[in-house]
Amino acid sequence: MKISRKVLDRRIGIVERYQEYLPVTSKTPVVSLNEGNTPLILSEALPEFLKLRLKIYYKFEGLNPTGSFKDRGMTLAVSKAMEEGGRAIMCASTGNTSASAAAYASRCGLKCFVIVPEGQIAKGKLLQAFRYGSKVISIRGNFDDALKLGQAITQKYPIKLVNSVNPFRIEGQKTASFEIIDELGDAPEYHAIPVGNAGNITAYWKGYKEYQQAGKSEILPRMLGFQAAGAAPIVEGKPVANPKTIATAIKIGNPASWQGAVNARDESGGLIEAVTDEEISWAYRFIAEKDGVFAEPASAAAVAGVVKLAKRNYFQENTRIVVTLTGSGLKDPDYALSFDDKMECVDPDVDHIVELIGVK
Ligand code: F0G
Repeated sequence: MKISRKVLDRRIGIVERYQEYLPVTSKTPVVSLNEGNTPLILSEALPEFLKLRLKIYYKFEGLNPTGSFKDRGMTLAVSKAMEEGGRAIMCASTGNTSASAAAYASRCGLKCFVIVPEGQIAKGKLLQAFRYGSKVISIRGNFDDALKLGQAITQKYPIKLVNSVNPFRIEGQKTASFEIIDELGDAPEYHAIPVGNAGNITAYWKGYKEYQQAGKSEILPRMLGFQAAGAAPIVEGKPVANPKTIATAIKIGNPASWQGAVNARDESGGLIEAVTDEEISWAYRFIAEKDGVFAEPASAAAVAGVVKLAKRNYFQENTRIVVTLTGSGLKDPDYALSFDDKMECVDPDVDHIVELIGVK
C-alpha cells in the first residue's frame, strides 16, 4: 500500500514536517513527541448561539503530547539545546511550559529545572512536571518574579532558558499558523488567541507572514488577542504588579514579548482587549457543554473575546475565525469541578435512579 505524504506527515513532529521554515540543519538532533498536527474543529454551537453566519474553528492545541501548545516550541528549543551541547534547561512557568519542558528534557536525558509561583499552578500541570522527572522549585512570588530569576540564573550558569524569550520557542510555535493555512487553503480573516507572556501571538503572526511570503496564502488575518481583565498589562499600557484571574495560565503582569504582541496587533489591523473572569468562565463552560470541546480557562479567554466582539457586530458575516484553544481542560481539575453541587451517591436501585434522572 502506498502511504500518502499527508498520512506520513502525521507520524512526525513539527520540526521534521516544517524543517525548511525552521533554523535546523541535517545535524540537528530532533527531540520530538510527534507534536503538532492538531485538529481544526468547526464550532456548531457558537454561530448558532450568536445567530450569526460565521465559520468559527477551534485550533485545539490541548491535543498536543503534554496537552498544550508549548510542545511546538519546546521540541525545537530542546533540539537546539542538544545541538549546542547543553546539559540542562530551565524555565519559569504558570504550568504548561514546565510540563512541556520536563517531558522533552526527559526524552533526551537533559536535566530540567522549573520555577513556579507557589500555589498558583493547576494541579494537572504540576503533576506533569514531577512525573516527567524535573526538579520543581516553588517560589514566594508570581510568574514575573519567576521569569526574572530564570533569566538571572541562566545568564550566569550553563543552563538554557526555554521560556519564549528563547527565539527557538517562537520559531516552533509559528508552525500552528502553517497547519491552519495548509488545512484551510488560506489564512482565516481573523485569528483569536489568549495573551499571557505574549510569545504565542508573536509566533502565530510570524508564521502567517512567513507562509504568505512563501506563496502559501493570499491574505493575512487580523490578530485578536485577549488578556484577563485582572492581568491585562498590554490593554492598560503598563505592567500590572499583582495580576489576578481565574485563568492562572495567563496570570502575568509584565509579558516578555510585549512588543511582539503590539506589533502583531498593529501590523495586522487587529486588537488586544480584556475579558472578565465571568466571561472566561461562561465561555469555558459553553464550549465544553455545547460543543464538546474541553479546554482550560486561559484558552476560553479567546472564545470569550470572540463572543464579545461578535455581540458588537465586529465580524462581517461569512468570514472565517480561528480561535486557538491553547490547553486541555483536564489540566485544571479543581476549577473544572468547582461549579457542580456535591455529587449525590445513591443506592443501585432502578426505580430511584429513574426518578432521579426524570425519565418516565
Ligand atoms: N494559554 C495557556 C493554556 C498557557 O499556558 C499560556 C501561557 C497562554 C495561553 C498564553 O501564551 O504566554 O505565549 O501569551 N503559559 C505560560 C506557561 C506562561 O508558563 O505555561 P503566551
